[in-house]
Amino acid sequence: MVDPVVWDIGYLISASLFIMGIKKLSSPRTAPEGNSLGAMGMLLAVLVTLAKLQTEGVIGWELIIGGLAIGSVIGYLMATRVEMTGMPELVALFNGFGGGASALVGLSEALKRIQESNIPDPGVELYAIWVAIGLSGIVGWITLTGSLVAMYKLKGGFTIPFTGKWVRFPTWGPSWLNAVKTILLLASFALIWMTIQEPSEHSWIYALALSSGLLGILFVLPIGGADMPVVVSLLNSLSGIAAAFTGFVIGNNVLIIAGSMVGAAGLILTFIMCKAMNRELFDVLFKAFGGSGERDQLTRTKVGSDPEEVAMVLDGAQRVIVVPGYGMAVSQSQHAVKEFADLMESTGCEVLYAIHPVAGRMPGHMNVLLAEANVPYERLIEMDEINSEFPDCDVALVIGANDTTNPAARTGEGPLAGMPILDVDKANVVVIIKRSLSVGYAGVDNDLFYMDKTMMLFGDGKKMMNELNGSIKDL
Ligand code: TAP
Repeated sequence: MVDPVVWDIGYLISASLFIMGIKKLSSPRTAPEGNSLGAMGMLLAVLVTLAKLQTEGVIGWELIIGGLAIGSVIGYLMATRVEMTGMPELVALFNGFGGGASALVGLSEALKRIQESNIPDPGVELYAIWVAIGLSGIVGWITLTGSLVAMYKLKGGFTIPFTGKWVRFPTWGPSWLNAVKTILLLASFALIWMTIQEPSEHSWIYALALSSGLLGILFVLPIGGADMPVVVSLLNSLSGIAAAFTGFVIGNNVLIIAGSMVGAAGLILTFIMCKAMNRELFDVLFKAFGGSGERDQLTRTKVGSDPEEVAMVLDGAQRVIVVPGYGMAVSQSQHAVKEFADLMESTGCEVLYAIHPVAGRMPGHMNVLLAEANVPYERLIEMDEINSEFPDCDVALVIGANDTTNPAARTGEGPLAGMPILDVDKANVVVIIKRSLSVGYAGVDNDLFYMDKTMMLFGDGKKMMNELNGSIKDL
């Protein structure tokens, strides 16, 4: 028989790996190492748990090896096949799986206890376990169904199997829906109480799964697409909290530690994102905005420039600031952007990158793409630091960014009101690469496009960057 201390030591090492991993994730330079440490911690936690269950005779080696192999293959295929722009959907799906796993463990533990429930007075300790089972169920089912809705909202819709017909995912939230959600939440708590009162009755625990699953759907349904990454981050936090409750239920320390860490980290990220978008979390959750909101009608026009003209303006520039946005991710033009920077630097020009905290569709989106193209981290300058540099820059090259540069945010009106922006309009010349004059995610027309000093290069980001690079080489 293995001394139980061995398992605790294994869990302690894996918890330490999680903590070191999270610490290293705070800087882009150390983030890949942090990611590996976290993954190693998780692998160790899984192996220790499986070995413990095996020695206790709960499961056999076939299940352990089979489960690890199937899980690894599915994870590998999903992670390697996903497009960079599809990453938020994948994160949402994985959060949902985390919540679902916790809910299922809670459910199986509940069913096991229901079978054994012939004790007339369960005692305080057992009450606590039942409450933990109930809470892991509520939070877990909400996370599962809410994350699935969030994933389809991020995708914009889904295809009906066998027909291939694309259906747009609705954003639906009448005013009475908040009352329904409150009733469902209260009903879920009442069902935990009923389960404790009548521990031999199966129906309460299934009803709990139903009410909290429905609550998850109704919770995310009214929230607009633009706010979805904030919701995904909140659901990520919930998946951690569900795991921590499950840790209490099955007496697994590492699950309590890891779950609490995910819960806290997800919540911190949620507030950072709300602050960068100048939104209150309450407004995000209970007032529809963004993807569901009105989009400005465009009435103005602007004559486009061509790459040769822009190359001539760039000729002799001493300082260029690249402003990447969602369009760079869509067009996958980060490598062409890096080539542009190399060409400019070879003429003695300084090239910096202005990073807005919510540029793109997920935290650190631009950092990840530019790191993939081997742009040195020290060239990526955060918004607060780079804004004072725009008046001294010869050319600001905006590639697929829109809302994060929109001066309308300074007016205090409309959906972008109060959002901090990159002061691109203060540069001497502004070059903007995008396919049209159309609005960004918040649906607001952008005065920057129509300024006299702005040159619009209309077209796909990658195509236009390559053409611009070609014109610079031809000079
Ligand atoms: P957006 O305002 O979303 O604008 C992106 C622009 O990219 C669009 O106007 C689009 O114009 C252009 N584009 C699309 N495909 C392109 C392509 N293939 N080639 C070239 N351009 C292309 O971008 P942003 O400035 O990065 O702002 C991000 C927005 O998302 C903000 O409103 C932010 O609040 C929101 N948001 C971000 C996050 C995070 S964490 N990043 C979370 C929630 C919400 P065309 O159609 O004319 O090409």
